[in-house]
Amino acid sequence: MKNPKITRKITQGVYVLTTQGGGCIVDAVSRASAGEQPLITVAVAKTNHSHKLLRENDKFALSVLGEEVDPKVIETFGFKSSKDIDKCTECETTEVEGVPVLKDSLGYMVCEKVDAIDAETHTIYIGRMIEADVLQDKKPMTYAYYQEHKEDLTKVKTEKGQTAWVCMACGYVYYGDEVPDDFICPLCGLGKEYFKKKD
Ligand SMILES: Cc1cc2nc3c(=O)[nH]c(=O)nc-3n(C[C@H](O)[C@H](O)[C@H](O)COP(=O)(O)O)c2cc1C
Repeated sequence: MKNPKITRKITQGVYVLTTQGGGCIVDAVSRASAGEQPLITVAVAKTNHSHKLLRENDKFALSVLGEEVDPKVIETFGFKSSKDIDKCTECETTEVEGVPVLKDSLGYMVCEKVDAIDAETHTIYIGRMIEADVLQDKKPMTYAYYQEHKEDLTKVKTEKGQTAWVCMACGYVYYGDEVPDDFICPLCGLGKEYFKKKD
């Protein structure tokens, strides 16, 4: 592959996906149908804990992030796992239709899961929008904006005894002494060879 970084130029937004028990940052979101209750798709990596939570729950929400979002939201939902922490209390959320939605967002869509399609490294979850609201009329964050500003939006720090390895294709950070041989980036699906040690 000559340069997978071209995927950064695919225009997408940046969202917090939530369901009972946690959630994660996602950019792989689309509106798949029209009407008052459109179908919304979200691709979730099988290695993410959110994948397991989505398999168990029948509803999920997508909160739209603005450019001025608190970097703590990206750090918490994008670089930590719901397996280890309660993300929905670390960042302020409120319940809509029984699903936590992020307060620090431009608005949300609550969806009822209608299908799940296998997509190799990811599962594409399809949901019917059953509730939605606009909370702030500000600029939504695009994935390209995230890539341009990720140094400010993420706090890539080497924790005691751990090394940070950054995926050269998408910016995902893996913490650990070594990237395991069979590691697959949960964000872009590329392997160990794409990870470089953060100085
Ligand atoms: C900007 C950005 C975009 C991301 N997009 C996706 C995505 O579309 N799908 C996905 O499964 N993970 C995506 N991730 C990675 C997850 O948010 C990350 O692996 C998270 O820590 C998983 O948390 P969990 O284990 O609680 O599910 C993205 C991360 C960032 C920072």
